[in-house]
Amino acid sequence: MRVVVATGNPGKVREIAEALEGLGWQLEGLNGVPLPEETGTTYEENAALKACAAAVATGLPALADDSGLEVSALGGQPGVYSARFGHRSSDLERNLYLLERLRGVQDRRAKFVSVVILAYPDGHLETYRGEVLGTLLEGPRGENGFGYDPLFVPDGDTRTFAEMSLAEKRVISHRGRALAALLQAHRSGPPAREVIRAE
Ligand code: IMP
Repeated sequence: MRVVVATGNPGKVREIAEALEGLGWQLEGLNGVPLPEETGTTYEENAALKACAAAVATGLPALADDSGLEVSALGGQPGVYSARFGHRSSDLERNLYLLERLRGVQDRRAKFVSVVILAYPDGHLETYRGEVLGTLLEGPRGENGFGYDPLFVPDGDTRTFAEMSLAEKRVISHRGRALAALLQAHRSGPPAREVIRAE
């Protein structure tokens, strides 16, 4: 099956391609198809906006991830707004801003959430969600990954996501979990659709 990966984030592209290798899908880039503005207030809404726009524009099934970091001491912020946290324009600046906001704060708990949506050109959607709990360091560690990876240590580990390989991060991460659910559902072909019958 040809599937468009509806994201402009190279970090997400790498993780999605690595996680779905076993399906034998032909993953394609956006090839100039513009992504809509993320005007939703939930991960589900934003993932659906991106996946549907790409599916309609290309006539192919399209996969989108919307994700974010929810920080306990910030009441769940930045959440769906993680990519624009503090109006900072790079991963490095957002990490420094987050560290600044958490300076002197004891409660370092945080959660990553990923919602992956596979949209078909006929409007059908499949939705998969993954989460991982962890803590935020007081300074960055590691060179791999993207976004807040250098600050986030998942529960049960001592390394940040940026100190892990793609495969190691996939086993634990929010996105890896959402994609594992997709993989499971598609192991023997596209999953059956729910049929609603009107009497
Ligand atoms: P969006 O899904 O395009 O709205 O962007 C999600 C933002 O959340 C990214 O730009 C990162 O800042 C952050 N994020 C989501 N997933 C991860 C991850 O796996 N590692 C690090 N940061 C992430």
